Amino acid sequence: MPDRLSAGRRAARVEDVEQMLALGRALGRAASALSTSALSASVRDAHPLVVALSGPLGAGKTALAKGVGQGLELQAEVLSPTFILMAEHPGSPPLLHADLYRVEAGDLDNLGLEELIEQWPGLVLVEWAELYPQVLPADRIEVLIGLDGEGRQVEARAHGPLAQGLLDAWWAAR
Ligand SMILES: Nc1ncnc2c1ncn2[C@@H]1O[C@H](COP(=O)(O)OP(=O)(O)O)[C@@H](O)[C@H]1O
Ligand SMILES: [Mg+2]
Repeated sequence: MPDRLSAGRRAARVEDVEQMLALGRALGRAASALSTSALSASVRDAHPLVVALSGPLGAGKTALAKGVGQGLELQAEVLSPTFILMAEHPGSPPLLHADLYRVEAGDLDNLGLEELIEQWPGLVLVEWAELYPQVLPADRIEVLIGLDGEGRQVEARAHGPLAQGLLDAWWAAR
């Protein structure tokens, strides 16, 4: 698969978990650079930066998120939020990390996830985002992780201007 596709779409092959962590670190660094960018206030203050992570169990969604935490230089390690549903990490920018795998459709409104995401002043990572795409803003990066032997195929698509800015910065930071 070519490494660069159209502007709104990027793809990479990830050989092992170390490379997945590294790809996540690049995303964390990119989000951090955007949030402190002196280039443009409209870029700097634009949020939430939403990244929807899709792929089967064990694909590496949480591994990517762990790398993001490292790239953001968060105090605490990013763990799987499967059982706690979401974790809020202070940082610059702050990270909201959610996992919709165990969320029941009837609990969606009570969780207030849609409002939380909408108002989040930083980066949002959502595992199993494909289960409830309606809670996500339209302007987001969709990341699809496919199993490919020991490796993974990662495809990222930007849907909107915020997502495009983040995707460009992410791929440039790799
Ligand atoms: N190329 C790879 N990329 C990411 N993870 C990999 C890769 N190869 C093997 N793994 C392993 O697959 C598992 C991925 O787990 P995890 O990140 O929790 O997946 P998910 O959150 O998608 O369910 C980890 O045990 C990791 O070590
Ligand atoms: Mg996970």
